[in-house]
Amino acid sequence: MITEPPAAATAGTPNDPAPQGGARAALGQPLADPAAEPPADPLTARLGTTLLRMRRGMELDHQKIIGERRYRLLGIERYHLTHLVMELSLRASGLYARGRRNARAVQLVEQEVIIATLPPAFEGLRLLHLSDLHLDLDAAIVAAIIARVRPLDYDLCVLTGDYRAWTIGPSEPALAALAELRAHLYGPVYATLGNHDCIDMVPGIEALGIRMLMNESLPLERHGQRLFLAGIDDPNRYRTHNLEAAAAAIPPGAPAILLAHAAEPFRAAASLGFELMLCGHTHGGQICLPGGLALIAHSKAPRFVRRGAWRWRQMQGYTSAGAGSSIVPARFNCPPEVTIHTLRRGAAQPGA
Ligand SMILES: [Fe+2]
Repeated sequence: MITEPPAAATAGTPNDPAPQGGARAALGQPLADPAAEPPADPLTARLGTTLLRMRRGMELDHQKIIGERRYRLLGIERYHLTHLVMELSLRASGLYARGRRNARAVQLVEQEVIIATLPPAFEGLRLLHLSDLHLDLDAAIVAAIIARVRPLDYDLCVLTGDYRAWTIGPSEPALAALAELRAHLYGPVYATLGNHDCIDMVPGIEALGIRMLMNESLPLERHGQRLFLAGIDDPNRYRTHNLEAAAAAIPPGAPAILLAHAAEPFRAAASLGFELMLCGHTHGGQICLPGGLALIAHSKAPRFVRRGAWRWRQMQGYTSAGAGSSIVPARFNCPPEVTIHTLRRGAAQPGA
């Protein structure tokens, strides 16, 4: 049984912490007056204004940029055109049906993570890690993911972003599919946003009983012992992640796990003392040559953090190849995965 305090330690950004919880008080800023009028925007109450303004502003810029002529061809947005060209190419080559079958063949990957500072109460804790669900791309993939996770045995679930298929447009279809998936997940679920998600999805996701970690942390408690879980906003496209805020309420030396959509800030995360970083975003390449060699990186991070288990100094990391698919519902030489990380106490591993 895992419990968390009713008011989690939170922080929006160092300059504009969220108006509730311990971090704000810790930073010496006044708590919100409970008698005051609630903010008109519930997201402001949840996240504070700085992160919200930054994220919304950058999402607007992204919408404008992909509406520009250089991002359009024959009047069609290049992203959608890429989708069309890839699908037509796969159909013409006779590979489309096989690629779609591959995208629905969701594999279970299990790995053990040895953490020297793991409190004894958390020995054997099983984290189900789902990433890059892109839930509104193909209903058959959603059904395959649900079928894969339903029989699994785990203590808590973490989601590392990209619930939507497209980076702009309506979020409702993805939220509806996420509700369907959530009904088949048990125990606590924690999540971060990805570069395909907009910040206005946060209330809808949290209404499903999924706790978003937006540059925030909270302690998980078992038998009076604590393991911290932190999450950052998208460090890939919007770069509105704030590791300093996410780590602010974690006591020095306390064991802590970081959720992030992408691995790019791994060096800073290791420097802050995180023991484990769970992320996704790359899809492992999704369409790969035999041997899993990715044709497109989808990342500026070094190759060694783009897929599977990795290590940087004391910090272990895992980059999921993703449960869903992006642009086209097809995969080659890179199966979709759901991952279970089992935490074990053990001797410190040598750093990279
Ligand atoms: Fe992504």
